[in-house]
Amino acid sequence: KMKQYVDGLMAKMTQAEKIGQLNLVSVGFDVTGPVVSKDVDANIRKGLVGGVFNTYTPIAIRKLQEMAIRESRLHIPLMFGYDVIHGHRTVFPIALGLAASWDLKAIEQSARIAAEESTADGLNWVFSPMVDIARDARWGRISEGAGEDPYLGSRVAEAMVRGYQGPNNDLRNPASVMACLKHFALYGAAEAGREYNTTDMSRQRMYNEYLPPYKAAVDVGVGSVMSSFNDVNGTPATANKWLMTDLLRKQWGFQGFVATDYTAIPELIEHGMGNAEQVAALALNAGIDQDMVGESFLKYTAKNIQSGAVSKAQLDAACRRILEAKYKLGLFTDPYRKVSAERAASTLMKPEFIAAARDIARRSMVLLKNERSALPLKKTGSIALIGPLANRQRDVIGSWSGAGDWHKAVSVEQGLRAAAPSLKISYAKGANIADDQQMIDRLQAHGGELEIDKRSSEEMIKEAVQVAQTADVVVAVMGESQGMSGEAAARADIGLPGQQLALLKALKATGKPLVLVLMNGRPLALSWENQNADAILETWFSGTQAGNAIADVLFGDYNPSGKITATFPQVVGQVPLYYNHKNTGRPYGGVKLDKFKSRYLDVSNDALYPFGFGLSYTTFTYSKPTLSKTTIGPAETLTVSVTVQNSGNQDGEEVAQLYLRDMVGSISRPVSELKGFQKVLLKKGESKTLSFRLTPDALKFYNNDLKFAAEPGDFQVMVGGNSRDVQLATFKLLAQ
Ligand code: IFM
Repeated sequence: KMKQYVDGLMAKMTQAEKIGQLNLVSVGFDVTGPVVSKDVDANIRKGLVGGVFNTYTPIAIRKLQEMAIRESRLHIPLMFGYDVIHGHRTVFPIALGLAASWDLKAIEQSARIAAEESTADGLNWVFSPMVDIARDARWGRISEGAGEDPYLGSRVAEAMVRGYQGPNNDLRNPASVMACLKHFALYGAAEAGREYNTTDMSRQRMYNEYLPPYKAAVDVGVGSVMSSFNDVNGTPATANKWLMTDLLRKQWGFQGFVATDYTAIPELIEHGMGNAEQVAALALNAGIDQDMVGESFLKYTAKNIQSGAVSKAQLDAACRRILEAKYKLGLFTDPYRKVSAERAASTLMKPEFIAAARDIARRSMVLLKNERSALPLKKTGSIALIGPLANRQRDVIGSWSGAGDWHKAVSVEQGLRAAAPSLKISYAKGANIADDQQMIDRLQAHGGELEIDKRSSEEMIKEAVQVAQTADVVVAVMGESQGMSGEAAARADIGLPGQQLALLKALKATGKPLVLVLMNGRPLALSWENQNADAILETWFSGTQAGNAIADVLFGDYNPSGKITATFPQVVGQVPLYYNHKNTGRPYGGVKLDKFKSRYLDVSNDALYPFGFGLSYTTFTYSKPTLSKTTIGPAETLTVSVTVQNSGNQDGEEVAQLYLRDMVGSISRPVSELKGFQKVLLKKGESKTLSFRLTPDALKFYNNDLKFAAEPGDFQVMVGGNSRDVQLATFKLLAQ
């Protein structure tokens, strides 16, 4: 039916109208790239626009859709996209925080709510999930993905696509949106963590470590893909035929369409790929279907067809894919997809969504340290609430929260006051979040988000210390402003910015119990903080309900259960640092004077906090894992069982993690790879035996011939509450 419909429509289209479908323009509220689209209304009327993004609300969308439907020759509806990344009006934790919940149901629910809200706001396409594996904390966009692990990243990618695209993947459902998988591919491996930078890696590393989350999203039927800005082994992704056609479509069977990232086609000129005309041909021939803001297809495709640089068939293929997406969304039958002011009013930020935002936010928080029973806090007595983020509503919703209204977000101070009315809370800012003029200028150029206190740092610290001295406990709320992570927010120093560390040192000198509440979009280097704070709670940028959720955790109304999904280094010089690394021929075994070993002179190889790490107010103990068999054949599934006990004093949730090591391979294999996890609630004193199934596929990897196969030999199974503290069992995989 779809084919018939699209054939019929294309038969009526002029070449210019076909090219028009390949044109994606930005209008309205947000500017998410370096230039803005011009002549949008006129082009819509001429049938020269296929999709629009950066605008929403029933009124704004209806106006543009009516223009296309009523005034263009063939009445082809527009698609409406937006960067709905971690919630729409109701904002959830940033993706790195969501992943730290290890709670796939909660993650899917956050995407489902985002779908319901964004469709009620007129949208039908979201530029999410971002599934780029990232191992370099300097990269600002590590905040937008699930972290460093391909297995967890794949499960999160599937959950997000399911949430957006809804029950049965039926995009005609007016409460479902088409997801856009991004950024294809390998954007997270940008050299030195610098934004938009080169990536260069072996195919083995790609297939085994970086590509799995993209493939997982394709396998669950993601509707569209966005090409990345970076080059991949010398060919920018947007001009990369191997990536867009051979891998994505031919090997993986992707059926949807590919849009570029913002102006990525004209940027091919800077990459050194040719002139404006040539790069337009390169991108179309590579398999790109839609050009985001670049207008390269619009300007040069007719010329390129005339010169023979691209074929009519290539144009038709791209146009067809865009029209098919519109067909799948039901836009040809109802271009407005039941959008109305009433639906928006009864959907956006409704109480159930706010309640979910609070619950999901607290599930995403990670307790990194807790000594001297510093946490949970009492709801009586007094606290000194210190730090530049303690009373900020603006920052808690994080970057890429365009439709989120920060005025409706809850700051830490508001959350604490609401939860503990009898607690005396005294506030002092204590430090600016940025003191380096270059950083201040760069951040303020993007919306003036910083509030810079003009007082000297000494004066501010002095005031904070005075406040601290009068309180029972110091709660310092510190970290990054929301603009310090996200796109174009690479940092070469990943410590606490500004004078915050100096402030923390002064607070420590008061001798008061010191609780550090962090907000940030990347792993930070926190060696001093780890040694000196009594407790550290990582809260990321946790969204609309941040303050309430943080209060829930700080007062123990919710027992923290999150675990980090990107390694926290001791110092920035260790990055990229990730748990699933290869061994070397000279691994460092901890002998101090062992000279010729793979290590640094000035810091150990260890993470400050390893992948999968996070504490609870209770404790969990693990039995040794037991295996259903110690030798298995290639088609057999192995069951690994482990008993986890809540050995502490209160109920709590634990994320039990299973890792595998393939001891000998035809290519060197990682020292550990996540292959399963389960998040379980255990009552105080309760034990549960958990079973993990290791299917034949779990033992496979892409070998030198890029064949996905398991190799006979010895394997180690490791189970524990993080990637470092594990218990071992071994088994052998037989050839037959
Ligand atoms: O979706 C984003 C992308 O992640 C980065 N560049 C701009 C796009 C659209 O806003």
